[in-house]
Amino acid sequence: MKKAIIIGATSGLGHEVAKQLLAAGWQLGIAGRREAELVAFQKQSPDKIAIQPLDVTQSDASEKLDQLIAKVGGMDLFFLASGIGYQNPDLESDKEIRTLETNVVGFTRIRLLRHIVSSVSKNRVI
Ligand SMILES: NC(=O)c1ccc[n+]([C@@H]2O[C@H](COP(=O)([O-])OP(=O)(O)OC[C@H]3O[C@@H](n4cnc5c(N)ncnc54)[C@H](OP(=O)(O)O)[C@@H]3O)[C@@H](O)[C@H]2O)c1
Repeated sequence: MKKAIIIGATSGLGHEVAKQLLAAGWQLGIAGRREAELVAFQKQSPDKIAIQPLDVTQSDASEKLDQLIAKVGGMDLFFLASGIGYQNPDLESDKEIRTLETNVVGFTRIRLLRHIVSSVSKNRVI
């Protein structure tokens, strides 16, 4: 059974991909900050879905990702769908900084990149 890890699976693009993969028979490890949303999705298929609340802007994100990958038993596909974005016509710096912290720093945390490089083989989809 193929295994996917999706961060940002509580809504939007990540949630839709999670639903599609589940319907196609994949085993999932899903993450995001909203635990209630993760639990609600897991109830659809508890034997096929592992959950891990995590916030990619926090320093424990890598450790929590490790825990999620261990629950699933590896991964064939990694989808980092966590992201925020604003219309920001007045260029409020707080909004831009929050966006960079989530979309850029969250992605470039060294251990997240290590997981992508070491855990997904060359011929599989990222
Ligand atoms: N949808 C589109 O058509 C589209 C088009 C172009 C670009 N984008 C960009 O793609 C990204 C995702 O879009 P979307 O429509 O899927 O947005 P969305 O519906 O708001 O979903 C964002 C996902 O990211 C998670 N997330 C946000 N901050 C997080 C954090 N600090 N740690 C962990 N998870 C976090 C959210 O979960 P929690 O809230 O539970 O943490 C949620 O699952 C955004 O950056 C958006 O600007 C989207």
